[in-house]
Amino acid sequence: MPQPQPSLPPIRSARPAMTQEMIARTGLSEAVLTDLVHGFYGKIRVDPELGPIFAARIADWGPHLERMVDFWSSVALMTGRYHGAPVPKHAGLPVTWAHFERWLDLFRETAGEVCSPEGAAHVIERAERIARSLYMASRDSGRNDGEVPSLR
Ligand code: HEM
Repeated sequence: MPQPQPSLPPIRSARPAMTQEMIARTGLSEAVLTDLVHGFYGKIRVDPELGPIFAARIADWGPHLERMVDFWSSVALMTGRYHGAPVPKHAGLPVTWAHFERWLDLFRETAGEVCSPEGAAHVIERAERIARSLYMASRDSGRNDGEVPSLR
């Protein structure tokens, strides 16, 4: 007779079986993702390069952190909790790829601190992929205000 599994953390998910499989494989959970998000944005906020870019746009960090836990729950555990649209939010940011590299460095560092090695690899791979698409969305923002883009 197989022994009953130890109870897994309760989690609301649009795809409960996949979510439970990912939790079991990566050791990620709502608690770990909450620590990841809070630890990561704690570093972002005091970073000399990235801190001011966020501070100029986020007045109230509470709702942003909640939204980011929902985002990582959706991305890492497929819970379907995040319903936003990140691309337009990044389209006008004054950033280069170097800013995204710095973002990824801080994310990798925090993931290494709060996740299991499997969990860290799981979230880092997804962050790297999403960073590349968001960078594409932000590329044009280097133009000066009012400058007409070259259509050639
Ligand atoms: C240089 C890198 C980045 C900068 C400066 C940046 C900055 C920001 C800022 C300022 C906001 C708040 C926008 C607003 O509410 O008006 C935001 C939201 C968000 N960011 Fe980033 N971001 C960066 C990279 C990333 C990456 C790599 C990811 C994903 C892996 C990400 C995911 C998100 C999400 C999901 C939101 C919430 C969008 C919503 O309102 O639903 N960001 N970001």
